[in-house]
Amino acid sequence: MTYTAKQFNLPALEGLSEKQIKVHLGLYEGYVKNVNLVMATIAAYEQTDDEGGKYAITELRRRFAFEFDGMRMHEYYFEQFEGEKGGDRESALAKAAEEKYGSGENFITHIKEVAGTRGIGWVVVYWDPHGKTLHTVFVNDHELGQLAGLPILLALDMWEHAFMVDYVPAEKKNYVDAFLANLNWSVVEKRFDLSR
Ligand SMILES: [Fe+2]
Repeated sequence: MTYTAKQFNLPALEGLSEKQIKVHLGLYEGYVKNVNLVMATIAAYEQTDDEGGKYAITELRRRFAFEFDGMRMHEYYFEQFEGEKGGDRESALAKAAEEKYGSGENFITHIKEVAGTRGIGWVVVYWDPHGKTLHTVFVNDHELGQLAGLPILLALDMWEHAFMVDYVPAEKKNYVDAFLANLNWSVVEKRFDLSR
């Protein structure tokens, strides 16, 4: 099988230019292309007895999560901007956020705080169905440091390519504000409802 890049139905975004989004979508499509390339190259090497090919397979297997997670994380990211912006203060997610962080406002403050972590990476909000709690984590490299098996509710891209067309690094906070202003909380709530 091969993966196909998703087409996102994005509304006009506040504080994130069309050029910024276009550049970022191009980067996402590069991940999709490389996921397919890694799978096809492994399959091709498997047909040979070449010693170098066998060695290359082991490295490609290591590389797979970098390309796959890069693809999937961007799908989580862009899907969050789709649709009419909504969000229900009485939702099950709002209740879980209140339980963990004290209030919905505190939850947002916490996301912003985690987004301020130095370096590139992702802010990822997960739901742990076993512990019945939310976790807001800074994932440095998307192929490393993810919480095993936990459903992803929210993904905030903090790699510089996500904002450098519109903001310099010192304005990272403004990018986070723009992300939150455009975030369709209904998408996050739906993910939460499906994860429980
Ligand atoms: Fe990105």
